[in-house]
Amino acid sequence: MEADVIVVGGGIAGMAFAERMAALGGAGMRMLMLSKAPVEASNSYLAQGGVATVVLPEDSVEQHVQDTLAVGAGRCDEHVVRLIVQEGPKAIQRLLEAGARFDADAQGRLLLAREGGHSQARVVHHRDTTGAEIVRVLRRRVMEEPGIHVLEHQRVLDLLVVEEGGVKRCTGVLAMHEGTGKVARFEAGAVVLATGGAGQVYQHTTNPPAATGDGIAMAIRAGVPLRDMAFIQFHPTALFDPGAAATFLISEAVRGAGARLLRPDGALLMAGLHPKGDLAPRNVVAREIFRAMRQSGAPHVWLDTAPIGVKDFSRMFPNIANTCGRLGIVGGRDRIPVMPAAHYSCGGIRTDDHGESALNNLFAVGECASSGLHGADRLASNSLLEALVMPQRAAERIAGAVIQPPVRGLPGQLPPIQPGLTSARADCLRAELKQLMTANVGILRTLAGMEEARDRLDRISAECEAALRKAEPAWAWFELRDLAQVAAAIARSALEQRTNAGAHWCEDLAAMPIAPGRQGSGAAADRT
Ligand code: SIN
Repeated sequence: MEADVIVVGGGIAGMAFAERMAALGGAGMRMLMLSKAPVEASNSYLAQGGVATVVLPEDSVEQHVQDTLAVGAGRCDEHVVRLIVQEGPKAIQRLLEAGARFDADAQGRLLLAREGGHSQARVVHHRDTTGAEIVRVLRRRVMEEPGIHVLEHQRVLDLLVVEEGGVKRCTGVLAMHEGTGKVARFEAGAVVLATGGAGQVYQHTTNPPAATGDGIAMAIRAGVPLRDMAFIQFHPTALFDPGAAATFLISEAVRGAGARLLRPDGALLMAGLHPKGDLAPRNVVAREIFRAMRQSGAPHVWLDTAPIGVKDFSRMFPNIANTCGRLGIVGGRDRIPVMPAAHYSCGGIRTDDHGESALNNLFAVGECASSGLHGADRLASNSLLEALVMPQRAAERIAGAVIQPPVRGLPGQLPPIQPGLTSARADCLRAELKQLMTANVGILRTLAGMEEARDRLDRISAECEAALRKAEPAWAWFELRDLAQVAAAIARSALEQRTNAGAHWCEDLAAMPIAPGRQGSGAAADRT
C-alpha cells in the first residue's frame, strides 16, 4: 500500500501531525495512520495533568523557559525549549477553536493548575482527564479529513530503508495485522513515528500495555541515533494498589492543590529537602520517596489529601476520586498510599527542531522523540505541549519538501507471524527484564547493577533474534525484542553518564568527589 506520508501511532502527537499535515498538504495528499491499539489505550488518553503554557499576565515565556531548563538540569536544547514554549499559547488557542473544553471560570478565563518544577500556575486542563479531552477533539478532526486513512490493529515491525549513492532514506514500514498475522509493506515518501514511550520495561509504570518502545527499537535496528535514553522520569505518586492489573496515576496537580506527601510514619516527607517542597522536580521527589520506602521497608508512602477537602477534590479530580473511592479511600479527606512508577522517557530518537531524525525521510514526534525540550528530566505537562507543537513543525517541513515517491519491489518480506501465540520462555524473559530494569536501572542506580543489566539484556536480545529466525515465530518474541533493545539502550546511556543529573542518579557517582574531567554532562558520550 502506498501513501505520501505514513504516521505510526494514533495518540495525540500522531493525530496532531495528521491533522496539521492535512491542512498544509492540500487536496490530494494521501496519509496513512497505522495504530496498534485503539486511542483509548494510548498514553495520551490517560494524561491527567494538562498542557503547560503561559496564560497569566504575571507569567512569561521567559519564566516557562527557565523552569524547563532548571528541571532539565543542563541537558535541554535552549533553542528548542524557546521555540516550543513560545508556540504554546497558539496551540491552546487552536484546540479551543476546535472545541476543547478546558476548565474555565464564569468569565471564560482558563483555570490553571500548578505542578512540580513550575514557578507559576500554568497547566491548562480539563478536570483530571485532559488527555481524553484533547483526543476527543483531534480524533474528530482526523476522522473528518478525507486525506487521512486510519488503519487500526497494525503493529509496525520495522522501518524500510534503502541506500542510494551512499545515502540512506526511509521508504516505509513493515507491519503485521494483529488479527490475521499477515505482514504487509506500507510505502511512503515520509514516515513519522509517534509511537510513544517505553514504560513497559519497568515493573511499575503509569503507561498502558502498548508502551513497549517499538518506535525507538525500530530506530535502533535501522541505526538511527538516539539521545538521552538514560533519563527515565519516575512519577512520584502512582497509586499503591497491589491487586490492580495496571498502575493508576495520582496527578501531580493533587499536590498542586495542596496535598502533602508523608513518610510511612506520618512525618512530612519533603520538609526541608527542596525549596519547592512537595512540588520539587519529579526526580527529586521520586528519589526521596524511594529512599523513605527503602529505609522503612514500607511498600509506599502517603499522600495526605485532607488539605484539599472532599468537595473540591471531587470537583477537581473526579476520575481520581472515583478510582480511590473504589478502594474505600475518600479523596480530599483520607491519605492515599502512593509509590513512584516509571512515567516518561525524556530521551528517544534524536530529532532536529522540525522533528526530523538523522535518517532521511524519517521523523519522530511525541514521547518516542528527543527534540531537546526535556533534557535530563521533563517539566510537568510539557509533554502534551511538545506533542502539540512539534507535529506542526514536522508537517511544515514535510509540506515544504519535495516528497520522493515510494520505492517499490524491495525484498525483505517477513514470513507470517502467529499473532495470538505466546511463548512461555518469552513471557518468563519479559518478567526478568522488568525486574532487572527496576532493580538496576531504576530510580537509584549503581555502576555494577547497570553493567549487569546491560550484559543480560544483550543476551535476551540475542535469544529473541534466534527465536525470530525460526519459521512462523510467535508475536511475543517481537515485542520482547523491542523491550530488550530499548532497555539495553537505557542501560548503556545510563552507564555513559559522567555526572548525576535530573532523572539519572548513580550512587557511585554521587559518592565520588568531583574531579577535573568528570564534570562533563555525558552528553557527548550519549550518542548512539
Ligand atoms: C500528572 O498529572 O501528574 C502527569 C502530568 C505529566 O506527566 O506531565
